[in-house]
Amino acid sequence: MVNPSKITEGGVEYSLGKFDGKSVIYDFPKIITYLNAKGKLLFGDTFKIYDDDHSTVLRLCNYFIKDKTNCAAQGIDPNKGILLSGPVGCGKTSLMRLLQHLVPHHRAYSMIPSRNIVFGFNHIGYKIIEDYGNGQFFCFDDLGIEPIGRHYGKDCNVMGEILLSRHELFLKNKIKTHATTNLNAEELEDLYGNRVRSRMRELFNLIAFPKNASDKRK
Ligand SMILES: Nc1ncnc2c1ncn2[C@@H]1O[C@H](COP(=O)(O)OP(=O)(O)O)[C@@H](O)[C@H]1O
Ligand SMILES: [Mg+2]
Repeated sequence: MVNPSKITEGGVEYSLGKFDGKSVIYDFPKIITYLNAKGKLLFGDTFKIYDDDHSTVLRLCNYFIKDKTNCAAQGIDPNKGILLSGPVGCGKTSLMRLLQHLVPHHRAYSMIPSRNIVFGFNHIGYKIIEDYGNGQFFCFDDLGIEPIGRHYGKDCNVMGEILLSRHELFLKNKIKTHATTNLNAEELEDLYGNRVRSRMRELFNLIAFPKNASDKRK
């Protein structure tokens, strides 16, 4: 039987807590140790979980490990996806890549830059929108900074359309969608309209870095 409380990386075994044969009792300091190590392997030696980011990372971890008590206390619904918002460079893309590794026994999602989806649409057309309407799990990276789609002279709000079909998939089949964004709720509503915005509230748990979260590029 697999023990999901232990993960081996580069020949080193990390323990994330205790496994009682049924579920893992996770230990947050141990999770941070693992995320620091795995983050360095993925992104280079300068990677570390910043002390200032602990509360944001903790909320994300509670979501990923589906901690019932803490999710309920923080208003996080483990059945929905995550919309991770925060300023440019604060580490959204890195964390969404890193945190999947905490739960290798859960279904993985692919990180797709929203801009690339629109470029695909401009090239190929509506088939691209259909391509994201299947049962795969996705994280749409940098939602809201993509240009308007344009195929054969016709404009299309590509990500808006895709979010609508992802919302249907969520209702029908519990298919998850995640996203990262630099925009706030109002800006997203301006871009995608009220109809999409209200569905986004059902599709996503909003987890926001504080406005002053540090830019890790500097
Ligand atoms: N916790 C971290 N420690 C060190 N470097 C980081 C950390 N998080 C992100 N970075 C680096 O900072 C840059 C911006 O991170 P990124 O995840 O792309 O931010 P965002 O998606 O919020 O714009 C990248 O080069 C990334 O490797
Ligand atoms: Mg990013």
